[in-house]
Amino acid sequence: MSKKLLRAALGEKQQSPPIWIMRQAGRYLPEYRKVRQEVGDFLELCYSPELACEVTLQPLRRFDLDAAILFSDILVVPDALGQKVWFEQGEGPRLNPITSEQIEQLSVERAKEYLQPVLQTVANIRKNISDEKSLIGFCGSPWTVATYMIAGKGSPDQAAARLFALEQPAAFTKLIDILVAASIEYLVAQFRQGADLVQLFESWAANLDEISFKNYVVEPNRRIVEGVRTQIPNAAIIGFPRGGGFQIKNYVQQTKVNALGIDYAMPLEQANALIDQDICLQGNLDPLRLVAGGKQMEDRVREILTAFKHRPHIFNLGHGIVPQTPIEHVQHLIELVKGGDTK
Ligand code: CP3
Repeated sequence: MSKKLLRAALGEKQQSPPIWIMRQAGRYLPEYRKVRQEVGDFLELCYSPELACEVTLQPLRRFDLDAAILFSDILVVPDALGQKVWFEQGEGPRLNPITSEQIEQLSVERAKEYLQPVLQTVANIRKNISDEKSLIGFCGSPWTVATYMIAGKGSPDQAAARLFALEQPAAFTKLIDILVAASIEYLVAQFRQGADLVQLFESWAANLDEISFKNYVVEPNRRIVEGVRTQIPNAAIIGFPRGGGFQIKNYVQQTKVNALGIDYAMPLEQANALIDQDICLQGNLDPLRLVAGGKQMEDRVREILTAFKHRPHIFNLGHGIVPQTPIEHVQHLIELVKGGDTK
């Protein structure tokens, strides 16, 4: 019964779903905060194969999770391509907003070299987890990564990137092409170092119109899936176009991802209706229900388990776990899911 989570992603229906938690290594764990404090710099932690492996394994020591996810960040890719990234304490990522001239200077070759420590982390994790557990690699999807490269930080509506794409389409297309190429290389290398499956994080899929969604979300993700599978046939890939709404149907059909992550705003019935029954769904508990715990969490967990009982399903949150989450609630969630508790 090995690699239950990988098998679910590939389309196997199971008695109770496997579970992992987005951002499962992180600030809600005291052992993470300790390592983080010792290192000081967040990106230094991402580029340290021993420490990044250590924090990847921390949640698996505490909880009966079915997968480890590589500890890194989606923004190591722009950093590796040559656009420096840093993290402001308590504020989040910062970059100097990229110009069309600087887009020309980005280098996929440089990124390959620069990301070696992260690939070493993948190899270290593989050596240190049992065969039962699946190892998830990841990258940010091109549109989402581009929003940070253009604005220089996170933004609620991604207006800077949306406008850049409309006003300077040639430069923007070039940027997306570079990110597609870098992502394919990076994900293929993660598979070669022992990743069982990968997730494409399209965290900012919500604010695009139909045309931009097709051009900047569907098409680049499709090219990445295709590009990875030419080198790793049958590579298992989870797509997570957060906020994709009704466009998730098209996203799955066009990109040919094996599994789809759904955010917590997506009604369960709609997800079932929009996505073919043989495609695995992953999600979609609101992370704040995990903070609140009790009935607010338990009832919704049962609803999710019931809704996806007859299809391949990976239990997860609808977005990343938040730092104030009580550890006992995570424990309780995993027990509920493992119990296959449906109505
Ligand atoms: O899931 C995991 O446990 C793997 C590690 C992981 C991190 N970031 C670690 C992290 C993964 C998969 C990510 C993805 C990521 N990073 C996304 C996509 C997923 C999402 O949440 O939408 C995005 C948009 C980023 C960019 C990013 N990294 C932001 C906006 C921030 C600041 C906000 C925050 O939570 O602090 C980060 C920092 C970050 N990435 C932390 C961790 C554990 C916290 C940094 C710290 O320890 O100080």
